[in-house]
Amino acid sequence: MAPLSCSRITMFSLVLFVLIIGSVNAQLSTNFYSKTCPKLSSIVQRQVQSAISKEARIGASILRLFFHDCFVNGCDGSILLDDTSNFTGEKNALPNKNSVRGFDVIDNIKTAVENVCPGVVSCADILAIAATDSVAILGGPTWNVKLGRRDATTASQSDANTAIPRPTSNLNILTSMFKNVGLSTKDLVALSGAHTIGQARCTTFRVRIYNETNIDTSFASTRQSNCPKTSGSGDNNLAPLDLHTPTSFDNCYYRNLVQNKGLLHSDQQLFNGGSTNSIVSGYFNNQNSFFSDFATAMIKMGDIKPLTGSNGEIRKNCRKPN
Ligand code: HEM
Ligand SMILES: *[C@@H]1O[C@H](CO)[C@@H](O)[C@H](O)[C@H]1NC(C)=O
Ligand SMILES: *[C@@H]1O[C@H](CO)[C@@H](O)[C@H](O)[C@H]1NC(C)=O
Repeated sequence: MAPLSCSRITMFSLVLFVLIIGSVNAQLSTNFYSKTCPKLSSIVQRQVQSAISKEARIGASILRLFFHDCFVNGCDGSILLDDTSNFTGEKNALPNKNSVRGFDVIDNIKTAVENVCPGVVSCADILAIAATDSVAILGGPTWNVKLGRRDATTASQSDANTAIPRPTSNLNILTSMFKNVGLSTKDLVALSGAHTIGQARCTTFRVRIYNETNIDTSFASTRQSNCPKTSGSGDNNLAPLDLHTPTSFDNCYYRNLVQNKGLLHSDQQLFNGGSTNSIVSGYFNNQNSFFSDFATAMIKMGDIKPLTGSNGEIRKNCRKPN
């Protein structure tokens, strides 16, 4: 029996009805805006669809924005804030500067939502829905996204510098950074499967393709052709995180790892003889199991320290506190 391969042909979406048992954040719910903004999901979906049809990569960029929001003091829309005289925000933190993108899409969605339901829907929730839609539109799993987050009134560049994992991190560091926000090792491996879509800059994988030994040699030389050894002009040259299908959300990422073709040092750490090898092989052999665990882990990540009740605010403009 052939394993489900990472090809477009075998891709399908898995609809999950995830039962939330014993959730720590009982305030979030899938029907939070059903009375106050019943058209919300269709408004967001239309905007995400239109952005992705202009540029498929933007779906990856939006998914990453959500990850970088949630890991820094919870999913509170803090990454969307521009710097102000009162705080230095997250946009220029090391993992984000010249790297995260998609803010204009979030602004467009916010404008469309405000036109219909003014002052009701948080930027943090808009980002959560947009990330979920991006995964679905690019061929990945779907799930019911929990809502009810409110927006932070501040942001912290130094917190972003410490809380977001680096591509140079080893497995034990990655595991402990995920554990810090309540995510398991299995969640780490499943969520890293987001690298089945999107692009990375030469500066994030240069050391790996020139100096590491747990890398397929022909893959390394292919990547070297567009990423010069010496830092400088080539630093921003892009390469796909998944060499096979960078605009399809599938399980090819795990095949890459099994073949020593992970692009980032942190990617290949998940299949380097350690305890996570078997999880990687499992997802490579069974796309359904990856999709199901990814959806579960995305819901868990979306539950990281949300502001609820009377905490925070519903921002009018995602870039500024009210
Ligand atoms: C496990 C630790 C992780 C590390 C060290 C890491 C690191 C990185 C790096 C270095 C890039 C390339 C950035 C650039 O060159 O500008 C990247 C891209 C990306 N990451 Fe991660 N990442 C991790 C986990 C995640 C998770 C959990 C998600 C989402 C669930 C995610 C989603 C993405 C996506 C979609 C891209 C491509 C973005 C685009 O094309 O604009 N990553 N990541
Ligand atoms: C800075 O904080 C003060 C006091 O909370 C507030 O009145 C002011 O509007 C803030 N400035 C900016 C640019 O957000
Ligand atoms: C590779 O390692 C050598 C020896 O440690 C070092 O001099 C060189 O700068 C490294 N090259 C890259 C691209 O990391």
